[in-house]
Amino acid sequence: MTKLWVVGLGLMCPSHVTKRCWQALEQADQLFFISDNLEKQAWLRQLNPNFRDLMVHYGPNKSRTQTYQDMADDVVGCLRGGQSAALVSYGHPLVFCDPSRLAIEQTMAAGFPVEILPGISSMDCLLADLRVDSENYGLQIYEASDLLIHGVDVSSNCSQIIFQVPSLGDSTGGWKPGRYRGFIRVLAECLAEKFGTDHEVVLYRGANVPGQLHHIDIVPLARLHEAPMIAEYTLWVPPVGYERLAPASGEHDAVALELVGYGPKWHDVSQEVEELLTGAVNVFAADTPPDRLQAAPLPPGEELWQRCSSERPATIVFPGHPCASGAIRWAREATRRGVAFRVRPAVSIEDQVYCDVPLDPGIGGFQSFLPGPLPVKHLRLATLARTPSDAESLPDAVAWSEPPAVFVPVAQPREIHNEPLMRALKLSAVERAVAFLESQSPEFVAALRSAPTPRMWLKMNGALATQRLNQALESTDLSQLNNGNWPLYLLQHPEHPQAANLLLEIRCGEAFEAIGSGISDAPLKEWLAGI
Ligand SMILES: C[S@@+](CC[C@H](N)C(=O)[O-])C[C@H]1O[C@@H](n2cnc3c(N)ncnc32)[C@H](O)[C@@H]1O
Repeated sequence: MTKLWVVGLGLMCPSHVTKRCWQALEQADQLFFISDNLEKQAWLRQLNPNFRDLMVHYGPNKSRTQTYQDMADDVVGCLRGGQSAALVSYGHPLVFCDPSRLAIEQTMAAGFPVEILPGISSMDCLLADLRVDSENYGLQIYEASDLLIHGVDVSSNCSQIIFQVPSLGDSTGGWKPGRYRGFIRVLAECLAEKFGTDHEVVLYRGANVPGQLHHIDIVPLARLHEAPMIAEYTLWVPPVGYERLAPASGEHDAVALELVGYGPKWHDVSQEVEELLTGAVNVFAADTPPDRLQAAPLPPGEELWQRCSSERPATIVFPGHPCASGAIRWAREATRRGVAFRVRPAVSIEDQVYCDVPLDPGIGGFQSFLPGPLPVKHLRLATLARTPSDAESLPDAVAWSEPPAVFVPVAQPREIHNEPLMRALKLSAVERAVAFLESQSPEFVAALRSAPTPRMWLKMNGALATQRLNQALESTDLSQLNNGNWPLYLLQHPEHPQAANLLLEIRCGEAFEAIGSGISDAPLKEWLAGI
């Protein structure tokens, strides 16, 4: 049958691949993969040799929009040819994944059926490895830039999961993690308004391939902008007063207690959890177990703890994601008793909601199951509410049956807040000047003037840029462009020979002013020392 499956592999492949994703991968006539991870590519190729790497569409000086369009064209072309296709990405296919979103829209518009299958996202791994209680505290999930540009009604009683912190402030392709420290500082300032500057937050990079350890850095908000950044970091801000459990060590040492989830339905069980449960003894279900699962009800009193040993670990199986279904209570008790345990990630209820709506929490953010009544009537994040009476009066609310909940889409258009963004641009002025200089040709850089201090360098080269622009205005038709508004024309046409001079003038001016107001000149000093 001609159809598109949209599939997520989870972070670790094949251990995170769910039962029904695996089936779709085997069944599809053609696989399209969006990731340059060689291990995952190799695994997919041996599962289904009709494999196409969509990363070939990325190219220097090619816009992201065009790249995603070319990917979507490939997928729709395959369907038009009468074949079924699986569009595959790592993690969850609709968690911060623009290419899947575009391909889904275009496949639907072309009239082909689409089935979106949830995968284990980086956030699901974060919850498991950092032992985050998402059951009692809820989650607010958004991209770092959303907090700066759109404002989010941050609830300090709730975990914040913030994506794309290392690339904050950078809209170019070849970004360096954490380059725009000024932006990260403003992000931390916005959070500190609710959590305080001493509040400890956790930067997390989950393992992407077998054998890799996850990476965790815990810093107070006041020092977030100084933390070394890894490209894949996601930030967890625990609720105020939350008693953090020690994160998983990352080493796969023997444990005496396994806390595992099988996802919203049994077909969402991951390969690692299914394997763990196959032939296991001491398996207990926290809820009514699915038919196929041989699990005893949880024993009363001390019995479970007596049956925990590293030779024959006890396993408690939870529906959905274990951190949303009671596993953290067991994790706390295990910690108190000194029992080694592990929490395995699973597909969550939220993951299923993203597929059903469909919706990407990267567009507009998402909040689920906040403790207490919803904070405001006008919601700035798409919302899944456990207490229907809170949300049912809101416009566009949709009742959800499984689990009983109400979903409310984010109100559009979203507000734009200028102040944090302007402050971030100011604090990052020196970093932005360096990023601009790094993107220029060696000839352009070699023709710049030298000077004894960074400030003088900026002054002299800002003046050099002005001089070049004046010459161009006198000797070329520059002044005629765009009805005289040539600066706007140059900003919109970076390929014009004078565009770099305009940007040099602007970046030097901003950085000169920033250093004058006390912002560190270190990034520029470092760049000057390297040329
Ligand atoms: C383009 S999104 C893709 C997310 C992916 N679809 C998922 O389900 O996790 C990239 C963002 O995901 C998060 N991310 C990706 N890989 C990660 C990892 N190994 N550990 C933690 N976060 C990760 C980071 O916040 C990063 O900025």
